[in-house]
Amino acid sequence: MITRSEDYIEYCRELARNVRDVQDLALRGKNKRDVTQRIHEAIVREVGLSADDDLVDVGCGDGTLLRMAQSSGTASAVGFLATEEEVAVVRRLGFNVHQGFTDCLPIADESASVVVCNSVLLIVPLDRMAASLGEICRIAKPQARIYLGEIPVAPGPAPEPEFNSARETLSYLYRRYGLRTWFGMLRRMAYWKLTAQPMVIRSGASISFYAQPQEFIAMAKLAGLELVRYWPHEFPAGRYNYLFRKNASTVSDARIPESA
Ligand SMILES: C[S@@+](CC[C@H](N)C(=O)[O-])C[C@H]1O[C@@H](n2cnc3c(N)ncnc32)[C@H](O)[C@@H]1O
Repeated sequence: MITRSEDYIEYCRELARNVRDVQDLALRGKNKRDVTQRIHEAIVREVGLSADDDLVDVGCGDGTLLRMAQSSGTASAVGFLATEEEVAVVRRLGFNVHQGFTDCLPIADESASVVVCNSVLLIVPLDRMAASLGEICRIAKPQARIYLGEIPVAPGPAPEPEFNSARETLSYLYRRYGLRTWFGMLRRMAYWKLTAQPMVIRSGASISFYAQPQEFIAMAKLAGLELVRYWPHEFPAGRYNYLFRKNASTVSDARIPESA
């Protein structure tokens, strides 16, 4: 029996438990290290990361940005991941990482001069978006640069069909994606069987949140973020990257007096 996880977080957890190559935690698929590297080089340029900065990377994946910050001598670099299982893997690389969700980040107000949250908000359900943007704003220093990347404008492709047996699943994957994907899943299934683990595969679409640029900019503005610029993400298409600044006058909720 194959269990399908509707929950992307559970998928991240399961992936981290079985990960062989840490770069898989960036969730771009196999052998995409150079893509992840290029994306983060562009982010470093876009936010103008310097030695004076305190960086927070929300949903830091395989730690690529933290590594870049470390090697360029950034004052501090902290990463958050959705699950303790991912934290355990990335921490072994020597990075300062913790479990934390976009809408509940265990870090003090105004900790970061740069906040990056790339290819993460698309996984967050709409009903947690305002809280997530508020939280990102809360941890940012006044005038901090805030990079929110890979926000889709539309839902992803239709979910994959569901199959109850390994054989049906494998046959579908072979027909739809070819030998490489078929073999990859076969290996995972063999591993699950050998280690007596349940078979859990992600259920179809990974996009929970999407918005047209004007809609997203308005949501961010409500949270206290002022748009600097936005532009289309190169690949995959249909996504935008946004650079904001925290309004100098924004007061984080945590510091608003009860009587206000
Ligand atoms: C697609 S990966 C992106 C990784 C990295 N930012 C990059 O661009 O390569 C998604 C990351 O978001 C994290 N994540 C997923 N849901 C999250 C949530 N609700 N709050 C914080 N992080 C989350 C996962 O732990 C994972 O590291």
